Amino acid sequence: MANNIVVIGTQWGDEGKGKIVDLLAPRCRAVARFQGGHNAGHTLVLDGKKTILHLIPSGILHENTMCYIGNGVVLSLSALEEEMQELEGIDVAAKLRISESCVLILPSHIALDNAREIKRGAKAIGTTGRGIGPAYEDKVARRAIKLFDCRNAADLKDKVEKLVGYHNFLLTEYFGAEYVSAEETYQEVLRIYEAIKPMVCDVTAELAKVNASREGVLFEGAQGAMLDIDHGTYPYVTSSNTASGNAAAGTGLGPKDIDHVLGIAKAYTTRVGGGPFPTELFDETGQKIAEIGHEIGASTGRARRCGWFDVPVMRRAIVNSSVDSLCVTKLDVLDSLPEIKICTAYDLNGQQLAVAPADPELFEQCKPVYETLPGWLAKTESAQDYDALPEKAKAYLKRIEDLLGVKIDMISTSPDRNDTIILKDLVTE
Ligand code: GDP
Ligand code: IMO
Ligand code: MG
Repeated sequence: MANNIVVIGTQWGDEGKGKIVDLLAPRCRAVARFQGGHNAGHTLVLDGKKTILHLIPSGILHENTMCYIGNGVVLSLSALEEEMQELEGIDVAAKLRISESCVLILPSHIALDNAREIKRGAKAIGTTGRGIGPAYEDKVARRAIKLFDCRNAADLKDKVEKLVGYHNFLLTEYFGAEYVSAEETYQEVLRIYEAIKPMVCDVTAELAKVNASREGVLFEGAQGAMLDIDHGTYPYVTSSNTASGNAAAGTGLGPKDIDHVLGIAKAYTTRVGGGPFPTELFDETGQKIAEIGHEIGASTGRARRCGWFDVPVMRRAIVNSSVDSLCVTKLDVLDSLPEIKICTAYDLNGQQLAVAPADPELFEQCKPVYETLPGWLAKTESAQDYDALPEKAKAYLKRIEDLLGVKIDMISTSPDRNDTIILKDLVTE
């Protein structure tokens, strides 16, 4: 008997979701991605060996865990092929199943993503350039190509010609960009589809079986709460719902099949790409956090912006996703700081806000109200035992719990899977 757990990021992504999914996965039968695509970069580390996953769920290293790409994911077949090749020594074909309802990301989506960014100029979103937004646009507009469209080659050719033809009109006539070959797109889609065909199935039906047997489904979120298309810092967001509710829609199970929502939060905050970030640090402390935390994007290699822990953002994420408990990651990164700040509220033109506002214009104007706590100036790095933590580190975590009214069930103290303090067993709770 195992719980169905949703793991989501509660900030702007890169909270350490991959590490925690990898840690919980061996005791769950299934790990399922439900949104996003290869814009994600999830890092797993075991005994110094690093694996970075973009599309393949973070359960892939475990022998008895099946991995699923749910219908809510936008799928680049070439990115999938590349990632499968990179995972040397792992029989991905035997362990991965892909929903036939996934929307395909085509090269022309990537071209559109880049063209749109160039056109936005100074207001560029700072996307990962993976074609995510344009692919979701086509899905919502009901013109996307889904994996099940690949079954019939002649029909596929016709659909690719129509869709890429439409993209090319936009690319050349509106954006003044290069056109993309529909024929090459078709050939590549067909070639990779033929290779992965045995892995394509009705993922919902498979997950329903795991759910019925109570063997545990771990839903792996990508991105983070403030990048949610509805609830994030629009338009500086990704193009899917990152909130836990989408674990249901993006796999085909129902919301009542979720037993626990685990929110992953860094002990501070980071953001990559453009958009407002009230607690961002522009000083030496920010640089120090970036250096110690190796805050470089796992997907695009861009420097991540760093700032203090933001309670109003977390409060919004907790509401949006019914967060039951938290895992605080990267506590060790703060080990050498003499003082640590927590943003407990926002000041909006003299008014105090406890929760981040939904209106992006107001969000932009919010100024953080800080509480300063003493740093612990001692090593928490690699700690696996709560009692071994310095008292001031415990006080910092306790203060976060009190401000949020949510329990911290797990604490991560290094990139390594094993360097994690588990205060409560969520799988067989
Ligand atoms: P994800 O996208 O949420 O899976 O997170 P990323 O993998 O993009 O970024 C998290 C980064 O922090 C990775 O480089 C991890 O290896 C690393 N990491 C995760 N947990 C910890 C931790 O507790 N301490 C430290 N120092 N690094 C961590
Ligand atoms: P993981 O799963 C951090 C950001 C991009 C950009 C915005 C839109 O590793 O936490 P997109 O390419 O999705 O249209 O970009 O979202 N972004 C992420 N930031 N972590 C991620 O994923 C991200 N995926 C997208 O930087 O600001
Ligand atoms: Mg990441």
